[in-house]
Amino acid sequence: MRTPYIAGNWKMHMNRADARALAMELRDKLSGVSPRVMVAPPFTSIETVATVLQGSNIMTGAQNMAPAASGAHTGEISPLMLKDAGASVVILGHSERRHSYGEHDQLINEKVHLALEEKLEVILCVGETLAEREADRVAKVVRTQLAGGLKGVTTEQLQNVTIAYEPVWAIGTGRTATPDDADAVHAEIRRVFTDLYDAAQAEKIVIQYGGSVKPDNVKGLMGRDNIDGALVGGASLKTDSFVPIVQFDT
Ligand code: 13P
Repeated sequence: MRTPYIAGNWKMHMNRADARALAMELRDKLSGVSPRVMVAPPFTSIETVATVLQGSNIMTGAQNMAPAASGAHTGEISPLMLKDAGASVVILGHSERRHSYGEHDQLINEKVHLALEEKLEVILCVGETLAEREADRVAKVVRTQLAGGLKGVTTEQLQNVTIAYEPVWAIGTGRTATPDDADAVHAEIRRVFTDLYDAAQAEKIVIQYGGSVKPDNVKGLMGRDNIDGALVGGASLKTDSFVPIVQFDT
């Protein structure tokens, strides 16, 4: 049985005071919920949020990290710094990193390895652009991103990996993949895991859907066999929308 996992990606929003206030509300309103829950504030608010969430059932994550533990990497943040600030999870390969900042599978793979070595949990994001979908290349794109991002990752390490399928055309656009569309790609992701690992790993891997998840569409998505959670952007910035998403099954 896969445990549902709902994560909030705050992207480049909120100062420390707002982040602290939201974390306090979430801590109080989400105590005791059954899904795993994580929020990923911007780097500057990680410590603030982690301090509020310490001892709660909500994990604190980061949205990216450097492919190195320390050294001359101006402007980067290392996994050691993330842990020091209180993060236990890191989102890697987000489409905004891939498409706005030129991150490629090899770099993402280096980050995945380092994060796992440093005992950070990883959410690895994959997903196609609209042009790729229209060219019927979804399966190929997702397969390439998974094979590249997970190259050399062992079965044992996979226990600390979650996959997020985020079709680029559905992010921040209000366009959600239909539950059927999303479930079909999630099923394809499981087939890739069977090929890269084995059927047992394909069955075990937790796959979140991301792209305009809202309180009114989360139930339909989570009702599908292959959809185990959500990676939520805009709707994770307010308690009024994030709490009902986490409580999709009540
Ligand atoms: P939205 O929920 O705002 O579409 O963002 C999805 C996303 O990119 C989460 O990582």
